[in-house]
Amino acid sequence: MEKMPFRDSEQTMDVQAVIQAASQLTTSDWRQSLPVMKGTKVTLRDLRLSDAPSLLAMLATEEVARFISPPPTTVEGFERFIAWTHRERAAGRYACFAVVVDGTDTAVGLFQIRQLEPGWGTAEWGFALGSPYWGTGVFLDGARLVVDFAFEAIGVHRLEARAAVQNGRGNGALRKVGAVQEGVLRKSFLRNGEYLDQVLWTIVDEDWRQMVEVRKERVH
Ligand SMILES: CC(C)(COP(=O)(O)OP(=O)(O)OC[C@H]1O[C@@H](n2cnc3c(N)ncnc32)[C@H](O)[C@@H]1OP(=O)(O)O)[C@@H](O)C(=O)NCCC(=O)NCCS
Repeated sequence: MEKMPFRDSEQTMDVQAVIQAASQLTTSDWRQSLPVMKGTKVTLRDLRLSDAPSLLAMLATEEVARFISPPPTTVEGFERFIAWTHRERAAGRYACFAVVVDGTDTAVGLFQIRQLEPGWGTAEWGFALGSPYWGTGVFLDGARLVVDFAFEAIGVHRLEARAAVQNGRGNGALRKVGAVQEGVLRKSFLRNGEYLDQVLWTIVDEDWRQMVEVRKERVH
């Protein structure tokens, strides 16, 4: 997340349908518009320009932005960011999902994923939620959908995430989702004039397949 920057064809899918249908999703499908993915608490969908005010209220706060690349500070800034996410998605390099909590229609956070090499063999993901939604299960619900999307729909082989060592919640969230801590990238993230160390977390395709099996066993 730290290094990552910060409508409407909505094919509604539930989480099982995403897993089943993902093999049919081609690269060009998600480039045109991201699938709408439903979890148990949240729906993930493409960003809309109308999400700008709620994203500003949710993400442009000191506690959310403390360990991530600075988010825009105005509605217009978020609108430019949203337009940029659509261009990058259309180019097939990046995808950004809005997090919409059940019973509402506005984005309260983001999950981003970008290729680190042409062809998406290795990708990086990042996320941010408005602090009222921390500790509510929204993160884990959305994270599973995004990880499934990365491996199943895009065909990622290795999914990386970076979290500043001091970012207790960010590191705790990655551990919880099943990522493996590979090491510390020393002084790799410049924030407020200071170089911070980051933990490198990864999920590789074998890990993901095991996670899916465990989830299936829990369901049956
Ligand atoms: C990262 C983020 C999306 C995670 O969402 P969340 O709702 O806070 O995450 P959760 O509460 O589900 O999980 C965080 C875990 O870290 C644990 N945790 C919290 N503070 C911690 C700390 N200081 N040290 C260690 N673990 C901590 C929590 O207890 C929780 O684990 P548990 O559910 O087993 O108790 C959210 O905190 C956020 O938006 N933060 C700001 C943006 C950001 O830093 N993004 C991450 C960049 S990598």
